[in-house]
Amino acid sequence: MSNSEVFQDRMLSLGLARVSEAAALASAKLIGRGDEKAADQAAVNAMREQLNMLDIAGVVVIGEGERDEAPMLYIGEEVGTGNGPGVDIALDPLEGTTLTAKDMPNALTVIAMGPRGSMLHAPDVYMDKLAIGPGYADGIVNMDMSPAERVSALARAKGCGPDNITVCILERPRHEALIEEVRGTGAAIRLITDGDVAGVMHTAEAAITGIDMYMGEGGAPEGVLAAAALKCMGGQMWGRLLFRNDDERGRAEKAGIEDFDRIYTRDDMVTQDVIFAATGVTDGSILQGIRREVGYLTAETILMRSKTGSVRRMTYRNPTR
Ligand code: FBP
Repeated sequence: MSNSEVFQDRMLSLGLARVSEAAALASAKLIGRGDEKAADQAAVNAMREQLNMLDIAGVVVIGEGERDEAPMLYIGEEVGTGNGPGVDIALDPLEGTTLTAKDMPNALTVIAMGPRGSMLHAPDVYMDKLAIGPGYADGIVNMDMSPAERVSALARAKGCGPDNITVCILERPRHEALIEEVRGTGAAIRLITDGDVAGVMHTAEAAITGIDMYMGEGGAPEGVLAAAALKCMGGQMWGRLLFRNDDERGRAEKAGIEDFDRIYTRDDMVTQDVIFAATGVTDGSILQGIRREVGYLTAETILMRSKTGSVRRMTYRNPTR
């Protein structure tokens, strides 16, 4: 009976916010303590406990890893009470474990939920990503353009010169050529050390964050989470899976991927309406991080529904007894 129940995105969304809040609050004690693993584990435990209270028959499709690696919230894990609609869940209990351990900006807890089959079952490989915010004609930039061509095309569409474009890129040796080419256009680059879900989300609020475009290679699971966020906030995104060896190709086959060269649009990665929640762990340009004061913690959550395009920001004060 549960799987035939309708996905009540409106009813479920507040419950989803509780899940991401709980994960962020649980990792609060570990902000700036230099222990990535402990911070992640705290977030995972709390997220799982809260998810299991929701009246859903949920399956984790993007999670902490594969079952044989024995993590909690593994891909395929069933969550929820089992009394409710069948839903797919994509999550990253702590997006930016190192950011949290070092108390650096933009660590988030992230979760998206949609009907069964609504999200790409992305294997744990890299994905080449490209994203821009809302308000541009479809396809003004694309994966076949060189990085410099993307900057020029976006500048034309924005009605400015390339020097007024800011591109967000993960600071990695593999991105040296990309960074050099983008710099050659005169565009600015916001280098981030981790956290490309937030990096992509920044493009959807360019006026606040100052970021117009996201480019580069990061985790494929994070790519699907970012696509879910942009489906709610508006904006365009593309991703192409990258494989370094046969083991990674094997993981993709296991996840049901047939075309290894496919370019996925935002709506190929997230094919139906979803709900999305993220809570700030450390301060960032999208969300305030956890505030610790004597007697209580405060968390800020963004909760969104793609069906309506609604974006709700909530502050939650939680007494620490
Ligand atoms: P964790 O939270 O698991 O540490 O991931 C952070 C992250 O920066 C992601 O946002 C990004 O997609 C990925 O790691 C990049 O991978 P790598 O560190 O291997 O370049």
